[in-house]
Amino acid sequence: MRKAVIAGNWKMHMTCAEARAFAEAFRPLVSSLPADRDVVLAPPFTAISTLATALDGSGIHLASQNVHWEGKGAFTGEIAPAMLLELGVSHAIVGHSEPRKYFSESDEQINRRARAAQSAGLVPIVCVGESDGQRESGETERVIRRQVEQGLDGLDTNHLIVAYEPIWAIGTGKTCEAVEANRICGLIRSWVGNPEVVIQYGGSVNPATIDQLMIQPEIDGVLVGGASLDPIGFARIANYQAPVSA
Ligand code: 13P
Repeated sequence: MRKAVIAGNWKMHMTCAEARAFAEAFRPLVSSLPADRDVVLAPPFTAISTLATALDGSGIHLASQNVHWEGKGAFTGEIAPAMLLELGVSHAIVGHSEPRKYFSESDEQINRRARAAQSAGLVPIVCVGESDGQRESGETERVIRRQVEQGLDGLDTNHLIVAYEPIWAIGTGKTCEAVEANRICGLIRSWVGNPEVVIQYGGSVNPATIDQLMIQPEIDGVLVGGASLDPIGFARIANYQAPVSA
């Protein structure tokens, strides 16, 4: 039985003071979640420590928004796995479409990040997804398959999460149809070749769309951007209505 993972990616939002206020409001709203799900928050590096203190004992996990493949060295602006582990971080987002787009991250670099994260004991959340143009020209499956095969090369698929984030759905308010998101997540599962791999959907997830997404059998959770900045809205997402098991 796969455990659902509800993750919030704060991107470049939230000062330490804002993160503390979020945690105070959020904690009581997720204090009695069903045991079938985990909640993960990915703040900017600067707020990790604050959030670790404010969420201590809550069971909420912390993710980084990136991780480097080297343990230390002259890599300005990067962060090493041990620096994250020291703060209690358990997950690391890699391959998000924003660094792929703005910093030309390649599948090879993403794979190196994911491997280093995993061998240090972090769970990589590897993001994949097609652009608008790729979908329109019928390339969706080919693009995602390449991202999955190259991004996950050499990884232990029992200790990672794949996030399917169609680029055209990110920050646009256009959530991918739940049935279509389910279809792609099913394909990703077949390409990964491990029925137990956890696969999230991400892209304009909000309190109004969460229940429909989580009913889908291939969708094991969500990676939420904008809607994770509001403690009440994100708590509603974390408290999604579980499908009735057969
Ligand atoms: P939005 O939920 O704001 O569309 O962002 C999705 C995302 O990129 C999460 O990583």
